[in-house]
Amino acid sequence: MLTDNRIYPGQYNAALLEECLTQEEISSPLLLYSELASTNTTAKELAARGVPSGSAVLAESQSAGRGRLGRSFFSPKGGGIYLSIVLRPPREEAAILRLTTAVCVAVCAAVSRITGIHTDIKWVNDIYLHEKKLCGILCEGVVNSNGTLDAVVAGIGINVERHASEFPAELAHTACALYESDAPTGIREALLAAILREVTDCTNTLLDGSYLPEYRRRSMLLGREVVLMNRRPDDPNTAVTALAIDIDDLGGLVVQYSDGTRESLHTGEVTVRVK
Ligand code: BTN
Repeated sequence: MLTDNRIYPGQYNAALLEECLTQEEISSPLLLYSELASTNTTAKELAARGVPSGSAVLAESQSAGRGRLGRSFFSPKGGGIYLSIVLRPPREEAAILRLTTAVCVAVCAAVSRITGIHTDIKWVNDIYLHEKKLCGILCEGVVNSNGTLDAVVAGIGINVERHASEFPAELAHTACALYESDAPTGIREALLAAILREVTDCTNTLLDGSYLPEYRRRSMLLGREVVLMNRRPDDPNTAVTALAIDIDDLGGLVVQYSDGTRESLHTGEVTVRVK
């Protein structure tokens, strides 16, 4: 059923991609589109129709790529990977709460294994390279008619090859790609397959949290003064300064305020204070 839908846009080398998927022992369906509104939307539709865990949707570009907090995600043709993976993680609350942070570690591991490039994580869902955003991750739940969580779609947008001048003005100083030009041949295919492998496998670490030490090691906020925005849904605009001191066992950010009190944050956005 799924394979009938797939096309191989010019940007991906079909033969190479098949080879990389085989090497990573990926057997779940992967659908490729030249353009979608959002791979997360399509993957959520597929998840609701019962596709197995590990099924994935890939687009060459997105016309309405989205990020957290209702933001749009820059998703032009060429140079980026826009991928959504259907996951059916354990139902325990701890597993669901940890999912976004586990996917971050999985993507970092894939980037490191394929490119040798070390990346950092900005809590909660962003991957950074040299203090600029390289990749955003958006995990969205799929709820069935009984109101229970059926699946989670992990959406991953990563800039593979893009020169600084190719980002829109509002991203020019804050976003980056793995390669400014001339990414090695086949790197997108290899990276895509490795991300599929690592992200699918990371669901095995959700119950014991064994990925958390790596998340902490890669956390670029720890020990730094941060400005917290959107801490409360009813008060999105108040900015509060705090010291980021730890990542707790559920992937929350532990901060210390100027009066010495501590809090674990599980939602919201953290912005690093620029000195
Ligand atoms: C963020 O920066 O807040 C998260 C961005 C997530 C972007 C990816 S691209 C593939 C998938 N489809 C989407 O519409 N969003 C995610």
